[in-house]
Amino acid sequence: MEAREIRQKFLDFFATRNHKIVPSSSLIPSDPSVLLTTAGMQQFKSYYTGVADPVKDFSSKNVASVQKSFRTSDIDEVGDESHLTFFEMLGNFSFGGYGKEQAIKLAHEFITQELGLPISCVTVFSGGAGVEADLKSKKIWQTLGVTNVKEEGLADVFWGPTGASGPCGPTTEIYCKNTQGREVEIWNIVFNQFFFGGTRKELLSGLSNKKLESLSTLGVDTGMGLERLAMIVQKKTSIFETDLFQEFFEILPADLSLDKKRILADHARAVVFLIADSVRPDNKGSGYVLRRLLRRVLSRINLEHLKLMTDWVINKYGEVYPELPMVNIWEIIAHEHRQFEVTLELGFRKLAKIQKIDVSQAFKLYESHGVPFEVIKDRYSDLSRVEFEKEFERHQIVSRARVVQKFSGGLADHDPKTVKLHTAHHLLLAALQQLFGKQVKQRGSNINQERLRFDFSFNRKLTDEEKKSVENIVNEKIRTNLTVVKKEMSKTEAEKLGAEMEFGAKYGDTVSVYFIGEESGRAFSIEFCGGPHVTHTGELGIFKIIKEEAVAQGIRRLKAVLE
Ligand code: SER
Repeated sequence: MEAREIRQKFLDFFATRNHKIVPSSSLIPSDPSVLLTTAGMQQFKSYYTGVADPVKDFSSKNVASVQKSFRTSDIDEVGDESHLTFFEMLGNFSFGGYGKEQAIKLAHEFITQELGLPISCVTVFSGGAGVEADLKSKKIWQTLGVTNVKEEGLADVFWGPTGASGPCGPTTEIYCKNTQGREVEIWNIVFNQFFFGGTRKELLSGLSNKKLESLSTLGVDTGMGLERLAMIVQKKTSIFETDLFQEFFEILPADLSLDKKRILADHARAVVFLIADSVRPDNKGSGYVLRRLLRRVLSRINLEHLKLMTDWVINKYGEVYPELPMVNIWEIIAHEHRQFEVTLELGFRKLAKIQKIDVSQAFKLYESHGVPFEVIKDRYSDLSRVEFEKEFERHQIVSRARVVQKFSGGLADHDPKTVKLHTAHHLLLAALQQLFGKQVKQRGSNINQERLRFDFSFNRKLTDEEKKSVENIVNEKIRTNLTVVKKEMSKTEAEKLGAEMEFGAKYGDTVSVYFIGEESGRAFSIEFCGGPHVTHTGELGIFKIIKEEAVAQGIRRLKAVLE
């Protein structure tokens, strides 16, 4: 079954079961807090919250779509057998039209009857964040004969919110086996039971004072990546062997390695779809995502090949996505190619007379001019990837050390007074966030033996009352003598816990994180930090704010002491 048929089967299946078919929305979402559209539900956010009326807009409470989606988080994974930046997502959605039972039954019927695929296992929510375990879904699956039901927690089977706030809730995922017998997640069914007024990160951290609010009607939001599904249906070992990509590889130079071919295939599709949705190469936002992808492509392939790749994508997808042939995509790519050549020219000019490049010069080209490693290597063939990566790593360590230095007012400053103020500094950030929300971020800091100075994002003066509240929160945390614990962990794990990072700082793969309160996502404060710190907050004394002032537009400064 070709991907084209899968798309159609999916839409027909839901159209004949009381769903209105809605076209994909743009990759540029209407929600300004999100860079690009990452899921089918994004265009329907306001129907879940009751702000918009689905019956008025679609003459139905149930809709289905094939949504253009883009996940920047996966850029570095592209090249393996299943990751993509741009992908198509099949989804059915209900805003009070049906609930858990019908949603699961429909998915079960589509997978097992329409596609004839056996379901190897499913997951359900095991409970967390004050939300009960989803025993109802478990029961429904079992009644349908799916006995392999795994219970998982908040980090794995709880969706949303996307962006700064939104609907969210427990999910149940469907897994099928691929040709090698490995279980692959193919479908995610979300039950939007709640609204959360913050980000997913805040929700997972458990630190926010925002609460999950129950929505008046349960919403259903499902998402199934077309490429992965095609891989299972067509019994292929990678998504790139499905008919969605297969002929694409024939137009690529044969001597490229498999992972490079996959990267080119992914990026070519992504670039075409982004440009068709009006994204233009830029140094920020979605434009930067496009620029980065395009430069990676341009550094690996000549313009002639890129033209063939672009034409292939437009031709292959133009029928389903009529916007592709409407835009002069090639003109934009060719323009960016010229720009890139100028950048390269500037970057390399300084090195014009050099025969041999050393690794720190190469790194500078990469860092300041955005010249990819591969391009530098083309000109200086004896440049070593291993040495370049070591330089990269060394650079990250230096940046990390700078962060620590900034924090502690001098790396070697282990003076007890400074150490205490450093711990107070962490309490202060957490207190500000407790009061004003997690969007309050650290923007600078300096600590000496007398006082701490703390800059943070906030767009107005703090009132006297607010300053008092901040002091009270910090002093309360000192009085309760919380433990301060340092843990080494992967950067990803730390991010999952919602650990605070310093704006603009670079971190390596393994980071040290300080927890105040308890060693979990529920700690009062979790920060990336090299230390040192006191072991218990009771050692600090009394915290007092001595000054509050503006530093720049949207940035305030607090100075505080411990008495
Ligand atoms: N929003 C969920 C996802 O993208 C289900 O559609 O996985």
